[in-house]
Amino acid sequence: MNMGSDLVIMSQEFGLKTKRIVIGHVMVCSGCCCGAVSRGKPEVPVDWLKQEWKSRGLLKNIQLSISGCLGPCDLPNVVKISAPGFEAWLGQIQRPDQYSSLVKWACESKAIGWLLPLPDEFEKQRFDPFRVSAG
Ligand code: FES
Repeated sequence: MNMGSDLVIMSQEFGLKTKRIVIGHVMVCSGCCCGAVSRGKPEVPVDWLKQEWKSRGLLKNIQLSISGCLGPCDLPNVVKISAPGFEAWLGQIQRPDQYSSLVKWACESKAIGWLLPLPDEFEKQRFDPFRVSAG
């Protein structure tokens, strides 16, 4: 996996092992705020994403989870992407072309066998939910 400066190789033994090995996990928030169109928030195309993931054969390689609230509700719509030694939080994913880019990136990552760096267009969507408050 090549994630630039975010790359941290971790090797750790645990008591359990899963038979299901994925190269990454994409969590798309569809909680109390993300996708809450009735509250004036942008739509999360949940059904479209599920269909794209299925029709493109991504399910066995990159886990897609539609989640309840991930926490940072002030930045809807939130997407969390994780892989060994890598985590990216994206916020304000609002346009259909952004979701299309996410699917395209997932397909390209599946083809190569590891998560590629996220497209540049997502750089301004990234944030850190764990930063320590200065005050
Ligand atoms: S509803 Fe998405 S972060 Fe809270």
